[in-house]
Amino acid sequence: MQTGSVHEHWSSRGGFIMAAVGSAVGLGNIWRFPYVAGESGGGAFMLVYLGAILLVGAPILIAELMIGRRGQMSPINSYRKVAEDHGYSPGWKWAGALGMLTAVIILSFYSVIGGWALTFLFETLSGSLSGMDAAASSEHFDDMLSKPVSMAIWHFVFMAVTVWVVARGIKGGIEKAATLLMPALFVLLLVIVGYAVFAGDFGRAMAFLFMPDFSKITGEVLVNALGQAFFTLSLGMGAMLTYGAYLSRDISIPRAAGIIVGADSLVAILAGVAIFPIVFASGLEPSAGPGLVFITLPIAFASMPGGVIVGSLFFALLLFAAITSSISILEPLVSWLEEHKGVQRAKVAVISGAGIWAVGLLSVLGYNELSHVHPLAFVESLADKDILDSFDYVSANLFLPLGGMAAALFAGWIMSRDTVLEELGVEEGWLFHIWRILARFVAPAAVAWVLYESIGG
Ligand code: TRP
Repeated sequence: MQTGSVHEHWSSRGGFIMAAVGSAVGLGNIWRFPYVAGESGGGAFMLVYLGAILLVGAPILIAELMIGRRGQMSPINSYRKVAEDHGYSPGWKWAGALGMLTAVIILSFYSVIGGWALTFLFETLSGSLSGMDAAASSEHFDDMLSKPVSMAIWHFVFMAVTVWVVARGIKGGIEKAATLLMPALFVLLLVIVGYAVFAGDFGRAMAFLFMPDFSKITGEVLVNALGQAFFTLSLGMGAMLTYGAYLSRDISIPRAAGIIVGADSLVAILAGVAIFPIVFASGLEPSAGPGLVFITLPIAFASMPGGVIVGSLFFALLLFAAITSSISILEPLVSWLEEHKGVQRAKVAVISGAGIWAVGLLSVLGYNELSHVHPLAFVESLADKDILDSFDYVSANLFLPLGGMAAALFAGWIMSRDTVLEELGVEEGWLFHIWRILARFVAPAAVAWVLYESIGG
């Protein structure tokens, strides 16, 4: 093990912001957010979700960036080093290790969905999705799921692109990809929002998203909203911690966090505003589940003028967003392996990518050869979840909140007042006090309460 930082740094503040926003904005905003919000009743979910972003997500984002910049290393070694520097047990490294396990699970299914996006992009471009009605679109989606070989190949292509970017390193790979792709994403999203406002059922979509029905807030809605907050901000497994390790001292962490949270929430809301008017105008169900984007939107694209173009743009957008996120799920693992002597970034990127691809085959097979497997069947309300859904549910709703709680407790209780003030870059004032109350008490208690509710319920 080498001492000191073996890692490159971001080339600039802008490069870091692009990469971090690129990490946060992804399938979580465009595929996961609309379907989870749709399943959890729309407005009621939105309210809890935004509360979770502000009271739990934002302080933990700041905590992870601080731990990373303090440690200058991968999650495992940053936790160990910063704990030792403060006179605490190096055993905190296990918080980082939990993150590595979570990263493997999340990337394994994330890449499968990325493969779906690739499939749909090519099919839309080739015009083979045009003219489908609701029945044809469901059938088309099921047909894709029934073919493990082609799904595994697209999953492979997505993983290969992820590995390729990560292998190129911080400045030449991750930063460049994000700086290129993020602005394109914003423009594409605005085009689709424009279309949806103009041609969709905008009024119903607004009512669905922004008029909360408080009676719909259940334990299940709380867990889903909390899990979505962690997932969408890339928190709880050390992705942001790792990006913080590449951050130079002169960049303000609280301001960066504000930009990341703001941009991520904006994209999620824009995605909702783009998707639900089309859902309602086409007489589709908001609660369609993980297939929402992939089943319902092709129907809309098929029936709208210029649908091939809008549809192609949409899936290109989904793909861009997914790649700038998937690289941030792989990076912590590669960063940790890179800290061992004589290890080459490109080599470990390829090996970890291959291993995670293999784990992803379980999710692929869960739709066909292994469709009888329901890993969470011991919980009644989760009994019909397939393998991919189960990985998604457990990682987002259990592992990420636990990892995030560790980050909050670590930054709140283990790191000294002086360290925290230095990392926040402020004098002791309102920002410090509010952050510390949120990190020490509010965020951990919220996670504990929600997990308790969900286990009890
Ligand atoms: N935030 C990304 C999204 O919304 C996914 C992601 C990237 C992620 N890095 C992560 C999720 C780390 C959890 C943990 O699509």
